[in-house]
Amino acid sequence: MKKLQEQIISLKKKKNAVILAHYYQTPEIQEIADYVGDSLGLSQQAEQTQADLILFAGVHFMAETAKLLNPDKKVILPDLNAGCSLADSCLPEAFEKFITAHPNHRVITYVNCSAKIKAMSDLVCTSSNAEKIVNSVPIDVPIIFAPDKNLGRYIHQKTGREMLLWDGSCVVHEAFSLDKLIALHQLHPQAHIIAHPESESHILETARFIGSTSALIDYVKKSTTTEFIVATEVGILHKMQQAVPDKKLIPAPSFENNTCACSQCAYMKLNTLQKVYECLQNESPEINIDASIAHNAVIPIKRMLALSKND
Ligand code: 13P
Ligand code: SF4
Repeated sequence: MKKLQEQIISLKKKKNAVILAHYYQTPEIQEIADYVGDSLGLSQQAEQTQADLILFAGVHFMAETAKLLNPDKKVILPDLNAGCSLADSCLPEAFEKFITAHPNHRVITYVNCSAKIKAMSDLVCTSSNAEKIVNSVPIDVPIIFAPDKNLGRYIHQKTGREMLLWDGSCVVHEAFSLDKLIALHQLHPQAHIIAHPESESHILETARFIGSTSALIDYVKKSTTTEFIVATEVGILHKMQQAVPDKKLIPAPSFENNTCACSQCAYMKLNTLQKVYECLQNESPEINIDASIAHNAVIPIKRMLALSKND
C-alpha cells in the first residue's frame, strides 16, 4: 500500500494534479489527498485550485461541481459509478414538473444532485450552509427544497420558513437504528450523540449536536466531553480520531449491519487506492458536462460560494 501511495504522490507532482477527498473516503485515500473536507470545503478548494488536473476522490456530483467551477480543467473521478442515492432520487423530468407545478417558489437544491438539477435551481447549498442559504431568500418567498427531505425538514424547523420538500433521502443516513442507538447510549450514558442532518428526525431528536461532517469534527474538538456516538458515514472517524486522539468515538449502529456497528456509503467506497492510481495515470474517467447545462448549473453554485465566502 505504501508503495502505491508513493507512486500516486509522485504522479501527482509530475502532472501538477490536486487530489480532493471527502471525509468518507478510505483512510489510505485520505492520506494521499491534498485536501480532505466536507462538500462546502471541497467546492471552495475546487474554486481556488491552481492545479492543471483535479482528481476527485468522492462521488459523481462532487466531481461534477468541481468541473462546473473549472470548465477549462480536466476533472477525473476514479470510478464513474460512484453515485449518490440522494442525487438518484431527483431526476430532471420529474423535478421540472414539480417546479412548474409550484411557481413563485425559490428553488434551493442540496449540492447532492446532478448538474441538470442544479441548472434548474436558484441556489445550491451544502449541509454546512443550508440554514444561511435558506435565510438569504426574502421572508415572503416560499422555497422548494430538494432532494433531501431530512435536511429540508431540519432546516424548516430551525428557520420556520415555508418549504416544499422533495421526497429524497440518503440510504446511509436512513440506515441508523433508533433502538440500537438508544441501547448503545445506555451503555455509554456520558457520550454525546452527534448526527449529520441527513439522518431521520427520530435520530436527530436524540442528538446533542447536529452538523455537517466538518462541523461534527469541530464539535468533538471543542467539546469537553470525552465520548461521542457519531451518526454519519463511518469514514469520518479517521480524521476525527486524528483530531482527538484521546477521546472515544463510537459509530452509531445501523439496521442491516450486525457484524460491524457502522454505516458505510457503498458509492464512496467504490473508489480504491488502485483506482486512484490508474485514474491519475490514464487521466480517465473524465467528467464532461454538456455546455448548455453547465452554463446554468454553475450560477447557483457561484451564488452559494459568494454567500459562504467567510465560512
Ligand atoms: P457533507 O457536506 O457534510 O460533507 O456531507 C456530504 C454527504 O454526502 C453526506 O452524506
Ligand atoms: Fe450520497 Fe448518502 Fe453516500 Fe453521502 S452518504 S454520498 S448522501 S449516498
